Amino acid sequence: MKITVINGTEKHGVTYRMKEIFLEQFRGNSDITEYYLPKDGPGFCMGCTACFRNNQNSCKDAEQVQKIEKSLLEADLLVFTSPAYVFHATGAMKAMLDHFGYRWMPHRPAREMFGKRAVIITQCLGAGGKSTAKDIKDSLSWWGISTIKIVSFKLMSEIDWNKIEDKRKASFQKKLKTLARKM
Ligand SMILES: Cc1cc2nc3c(=O)[nH]c(=O)nc-3n(C[C@H](O)[C@H](O)[C@H](O)COP(=O)(O)O)c2cc1C
Repeated sequence: MKITVINGTEKHGVTYRMKEIFLEQFRGNSDITEYYLPKDGPGFCMGCTACFRNNQNSCKDAEQVQKIEKSLLEADLLVFTSPAYVFHATGAMKAMLDHFGYRWMPHRPAREMFGKRAVIITQCLGAGGKSTAKDIKDSLSWWGISTIKIVSFKLMSEIDWNKIEDKRKASFQKKLKTLARKM
């Protein structure tokens, strides 16, 4: 199976650990390509609208955007991750998603998206994980992806992975592994 992962943060923190638990189930029998934002992503959309007007290659960030798009289109499973930053996806994730506005259903959707499966992994300290997932889901749905699963966690007391209680980590693991098996 081909998997493309878009990480909404470069940090090897809680979001990263959760994503690793999920991917563990696929390692060894899958071809996994990962992008870490903002490092591997485009800059901010400047609103030139060239992409909407059928010329996505004249975007100032076409090189990064088209590289990511190729990976997304070739994958069987798409994975998006983000911590909640003030109730929303990271700015880096939003900056990337803006560049795919031209792939929304009213514009030029890519046929390859229609049969894909996607997983969104978000987490927050206390509140905002679900609205963070929705930020990402809005784009994925409007790209035409029919199967989108969300897994969202609340840490509640501690945001340092090494200090999170084992019992709590075990409950995250159970959910993530179950979802991986389903996918
Ligand atoms: C800028 C910023 C904003 C955050 N906003 C929220 C928030 O609105 N709600 C919340 O529960 N946690 C918030 N957090 C905590 C994160 O969602 C997350 O739990 C924490 O950063 C650990 O994840 P990480 O190790 O993957 O970075 C915020 C963290 C940062 C750095």
